Amino acid sequence: MNVLIFGPNGSGKGTQGSLLKKKFNLAHIESGAIFREHIKNGTELGKKAKEYIDKGELVPDEITIPMVLETLKKQGKDGWLLDGFPRNIEQAKKLWEALQEEGMKLDLVVEIKLDRETAKKRIMGRRICENDPNHPNNIYIDAIKPIGDRCRICGGVLKIRSDDQDEAAINKRHDIYYDTKTGTLAAAYYFKKLAEEGKTKYIEVDGSRDIETIKQELLSKIEAALK
Ligand code: AP5
Repeated sequence: MNVLIFGPNGSGKGTQGSLLKKKFNLAHIESGAIFREHIKNGTELGKKAKEYIDKGELVPDEITIPMVLETLKKQGKDGWLLDGFPRNIEQAKKLWEALQEEGMKLDLVVEIKLDRETAKKRIMGRRICENDPNHPNNIYIDAIKPIGDRCRICGGVLKIRSDDQDEAAINKRHDIYYDTKTGTLAAAYYFKKLAEEGKTKYIEVDGSRDIETIKQELLSKIEAALK
């Protein structure tokens, strides 16, 4: 199964994505995580990407598009979940073209809906477990509050993502997301239109509820869509 997941930064697309990845055994391809790996390893691509990420801007398409499409071809042969890409209308068109060229199907597109204020609070409270970035920890959310300064799941050391505490950068990321003309929602609606033409399926979920409730709704909507 090949899936695209959309949601504003902080909506929980990484959280739900990692649950879907486990359930359906998908390669979880996250553009942001690929950039962070490059930054950690000090590569040229990482150095360039960091300049944009720290400001809350998109890394230019000429860097991002080939990087993601290449990863998709290499790692996505047995099913993938693409998270964080496409983020604008240009990336959406290029992705759709590449899928046609490769003869890859897009089974499903998921949109997690969430208001800006809630999303911002979730980002600022997010803490990343050094052992597993998919262990949910957030200092502002009781249900997933860390235990002291340690991961609530494994006791691992927690870190703060460098782009998570700058409010201006978060606002910029959200401006890009909620832009329905050329931004990320425009990309999501591009696929919604393809779904209306019968070329894929489009599922929407309300991301304001707790992680488990969203997961259950997502799974039942996926089951219904793929019937
Ligand atoms: P990226 O890595 O995609 O970061 P992001 O934009 O901040 O989005 P996240 O994926 O981190 O947020 P999320 O929605 O997954 O939230 P999470 O599940 O963690 O991108 C980073 C940067 O890379 C971009 O800004 C850009 O510069 C660049 N980039 C990436 N892709 C690009 C592209 N295609 N083109 C150009 N540039 C690109 O959840 C957030 C918090 O809430 C966590 O603490 C979590 O535990 C908690 N939480 C989750 N769900 C719930 C819930 N239901 N209830 C309560 N708490 C919850």
